[in-house]
Formats: sequence, C-alpha cells, structure tokens
Amino acid sequence: MVGPLSDRVIRILKSIVFAASLSPVAFLLWDVFTGQLNANPFNAIVRSSGFWSLRFLCLTLAITPLRWLTGWHSVVKFRRMFGLFGFFYATVHTAAYVLFDRLAGLDAWVRARPLIATAHTLSAIGVDLLRPFFAIGLVALVLMAPLAATSTVGMIRRLGGRRWQALHRLAYPAAVASVLHTYWPLTPRAPRYAVILGIVFVLRVGRAYARRRASMARTVQAVG
Ligand code: HEM
Repeated sequence: MVGPLSDRVIRILKSIVFAASLSPVAFLLWDVFTGQLNANPFNAIVRSSGFWSLRFLCLTLAITPLRWLTGWHSVVKFRRMFGLFGFFYATVHTAAYVLFDRLAGLDAWVRARPLIATAHTLSAIGVDLLRPFFAIGLVALVLMAPLAATSTVGMIRRLGGRRWQALHRLAYPAAVASVLHTYWPLTPRAPRYAVILGIVFVLRVGRAYARRRASMARTVQAVG
C-alpha cells in the first residue's frame, strides 16, 4: 500500500506528468520539421493523436481500479489531467482530420473562397459521417465534451456530487465508442486497447457485484 503524498509532492508530480503528457505533441512537431514522418505525414498526425487520445482515456478509467488494487488513493489527483489530455488529443485528432483530410483535399480555386470552401468541407464531412467509422468517432468525441466541460471543482459544486458522478459515467460509453472507432472495421487483429478497457470494466463490475453481495449479507444478518 502506498501512503498519501503531501500537497507539495503532488504539485511537483503534476508538473512532471503535465510536461510528459504534452511530449507527444513535441515529438510530433519534431518529426514534422525534421521530415521524419512516413510517406503520408498527415495520416501519421491523425493516427498518432488518435492513439494518444485512446491511451489517455484508458489511463483515466484505470485510475479507480488502480486505487483499489494498490491502496494508493493520491493517484486520483491525476485523473482529471489524464481525462483532459484524452479530450485534448481527440480534439487535435479531429482538427487534423478536418484540416489535412478535408480542407487540404479541396482544389485551389475552392480553397481561395472561404464561404465556398466551408460549404464544401462541411458537405464532405457530412458524407464521411454517413460511414460508421466516422460516426462512431464523432459519438466518442461528443460524449467526452461534457466531461471536459464539467471537470472543474466549480462545476462539481454546481451540479452536486451525485449528478456529476452520473454524468461522468459517460466516460464508459465514450471509451467503448473510441475502441469501436479504432478497430473499425472489426477484422481480427490484436485489440490491445480493447483488452485494457475490458480488464477495467471487469474489475469495476466485479467490485460492484461484491459490494452488492456484502450489503445484502449485512441486511440479511440484521433482519435475521
Ligand atoms: C474520442 C474520439 C476519437 C478517438 C479516441 C479516435 C481514435 C482514433 C485512432 C486510435 C485511430 C487510428 C486507427 C488505426 O489506424 O488503427 C483513428 C483514426 C482516424 N480517426 Fe479517429 N478517433 C476519435 C474521433 C474521431 C473523429 C470525431 C473523427 C472524424 C470525424 C476521426 C477520424 C479519424 C480518421 C480520418 C482516422 C484515420 C484513418 C486512416 O488511417 O486512414 N476520429 N482514430
């Protein structure tokens, strides 16, 4: 079991974790400017930011089971940061898709006319969204948005603990949608992130079941 950390240590650790969480952006920019990305650099940016979003989502959801398993409760202080980085990378990922896949695909004449370019881009995105891969990705992003928007202490107070917790359970469908989007079309391949999230779900459901059984046993004891 790991003991609680002092506020000072938490602050220092948070700065280190924050810098480390931003490092994928730095490495990506380095690769862009040194020409080290693969034959399709734009696709590399879209894929890299997508995978970082998924990694942070997994990390965020793994915090609670990690607390149960290790008894290290201070780790919860990093959960909000991980969740916000998950949303940040999902936003970068979606923006990169709009910029590199859709806007860059327009011909020069259309691109020089902002209104026409916007209409063309929106209609191309609309057509993409008819495909399950894009639609599921958007569902994941839309589910994550209210979580990011209500992640502050002020919002927890405003919503009240119970409502805030209920809202933040949206992280689970968001994770399911993210995994489906990542592995779509669902052909057999090593679904690393699906396995990680599966373990997190099994631990959560197992714990909820054990708690319910314990509470029922207490009730039966009290009655009997
Ligand atoms: C939480 C939200 C999202 C997550 C976690 C996510 C994650 C990912 C991941 C991990 C990949 C790489 C899959 C692979 O190459 O095996 C990917 C690819 C991609 N995603 Fe997302 N995504 C999200 C939302 C979106 C949205 C909203 C869009 C656009 C509407 C989008 C468009 C794309 C595109 C165009 C690719 C590249 C496919 C290719 O390699 O050609 N994603 N996404």
